[in-house]
Amino acid sequence: MALKKTVEALLNQQLEKEYAAAAVYQAISIYFEQELLKGFAAWFKRQVSEERAHGAKIIEYMLDRGGAPILPAIPAPKMAYAAPLDALKAAVAHERANTAGIYACLAAAQKADDPATVEVLQWFVKEQVEEEKWADEYTQMLEKVAGSVGGLWAFDHRVEKLAQG
Ligand SMILES: [Fe+2]
Ligand SMILES: [Fe+2]
Repeated sequence: MALKKTVEALLNQQLEKEYAAAAVYQAISIYFEQELLKGFAAWFKRQVSEERAHGAKIIEYMLDRGGAPILPAIPAPKMAYAAPLDALKAAVAHERANTAGIYACLAAAQKADDPATVEVLQWFVKEQVEEEKWADEYTQMLEKVAGSVGGLWAFDHRVEKLAQG
């Protein structure tokens, strides 16, 4: 059964969100490299691959269903942040926007009576729980270590370990 146009349009919108997140995370990774916070830099570099993989997953699925993926024009990401906390807050905002996008896709797939798309989107629903979890936790930790360079470096070290795992 062909992909309904309403569902196809929303999946293309989601494709844009995934690639936009990849670009934002690449910029955040560069920012952390420049701040000598190598753990955060590594973490965000890993997120770039993850977001690209999400985009690839959507493209592959659309093609499987005879849909037409459209590669989006990506807005230039912000390259500088006033503080690490601001970069993490940007990540939280992007993850929330991505979650909202997935939910919109899911609602459209349910309305279109398209169980195959619903099934694929369930994976993304779970993934977004994990994504929002790290973004929220890292933000909270940065709030806790505010003003402490030692605390920031210790946390960066922990994030570096998590980036390898
Ligand atoms: Fe994603
Ligand atoms: Fe994400």
